[in-house]
Amino acid sequence: MDKKVPESQTITSFYLIPEDRLPLPVYMVGQFLTFRLTTPGRPKPIIRTYSLSECPCHAEYYRITIKKEPSHQDSDNVSGSNYFHDVVEPGTRLQVAAPRGDFFLDPQKESPIVLLSGGVGLTPMISMLNAVADSGKKRPTWFIHGTRNGVHHAMCKHMRQVAAGNEDIKVHIRYSQPRPEDIEGREYDSVGHVDLDLLKALLPGTDMEFFLCGPPPFMNGLLKSLWEWGVPETRIRFELFGPATLLQEGTSVRRRKKETTFEEKAYEVKFSASGITAKWDPEYENLLEFAEDQGVFPDFSCRSGICHTCQYKISRGEVDYNFEPLDPPYPGQALLCCSRPRSNLVIDV
Ligand SMILES: Cc1cc2nc3c(=O)[nH]c(=O)nc-3n(C[C@H](O)[C@H](O)[C@H](O)COP(=O)(O)OP(=O)(O)OC[C@H]3O[C@@H](n4cnc5c(N)ncnc54)[C@H](O)[C@@H]3O)c2cc1C
Ligand code: FES
Repeated sequence: MDKKVPESQTITSFYLIPEDRLPLPVYMVGQFLTFRLTTPGRPKPIIRTYSLSECPCHAEYYRITIKKEPSHQDSDNVSGSNYFHDVVEPGTRLQVAAPRGDFFLDPQKESPIVLLSGGVGLTPMISMLNAVADSGKKRPTWFIHGTRNGVHHAMCKHMRQVAAGNEDIKVHIRYSQPRPEDIEGREYDSVGHVDLDLLKALLPGTDMEFFLCGPPPFMNGLLKSLWEWGVPETRIRFELFGPATLLQEGTSVRRRKKETTFEEKAYEVKFSASGITAKWDPEYENLLEFAEDQGVFPDFSCRSGICHTCQYKISRGEVDYNFEPLDPPYPGQALLCCSRPRSNLVIDV
């Protein structure tokens, strides 16, 4: 770690450079890094993921921006975010895997976008905002951010500067509980939560792509609102910083369109605990997406082969992986988010 920059009273950015000074792997704006952290009080390393918060145009470093979560009274273990805030200092060596994740945007396109964030969910959105500004394209962009007040608001000046320097980028900041010293028009633009009324007031319509990242109430509220407003599922993309079980029922949205990649047989996939059997359709990226469209909802979080939230027992059959998971699943189990059938399957979900 090269440099630590406080962004608010609770959020800090960490600038990371490679020890060997060789070029860093490139990333798509919106992707995240995965860390294996050896933290005090824990016998085994913990895995934590943090979105890249800078534009890839700064090829010489990676930046991540982390909120310090409250530490638990009943535990001596240091959590991932507390480890970064309290233990990691310039010169600390960190073990990190190359960027990954399927939540990203193409900054070279010119179609209108809305970047919606709540709290520390701003990190992938700032990366996207910076990349759009850096691209030099005239892309209509709305950056709408909700947070409690100036104590928690990270990168306030930066957001304003980006908007001031680009007439196609509009920034709107909404505080739910502004303090007396927070000035309307300077730190924030309106009071309340980011909701459908605000979107209707700010946006010319729904013919744009929506990117979302924020805490569960923010995500649940906005996903429902966007559907009510008639935004097609294919134009809504979101990142979750926790397991998908935090989302209310009916708020799961496909992140990627189906793509035919190669020919596969129509294997039979049985979801035994749900009592559902269906013929595998090779247009699906992975078993998780396939399951969701059959009305089976396995747990998931990263959808990128990292967290193992989507690990389920395979009672019969075998799978192939689209890409290598960070750590292999237990024998007899599979990560549904990054695998496809290699034979008929029985999955215990
Ligand atoms: C794709 C992705 C990208 C992410 N990007 C970012 C990012 O850019 N910035 C960022 O800050 N975070 C990000 N996160 C979240 C991050 O990975 C961690 O989940 C977060 O930092 C919390 O981890 P932790 O180890 O500090 O806390 P944990 O120990 O995992 O605890 C998580 C929460 O549960 C509570 N908790 C846990 N155990 C207890 C207990 N025993 N009693 C009471 N409460 C408890 C904690 O207070 C905390 O609020 C991202 C997550 C994902 C999946
Ligand atoms: S959802 Fe995280 S590994 Fe599959």
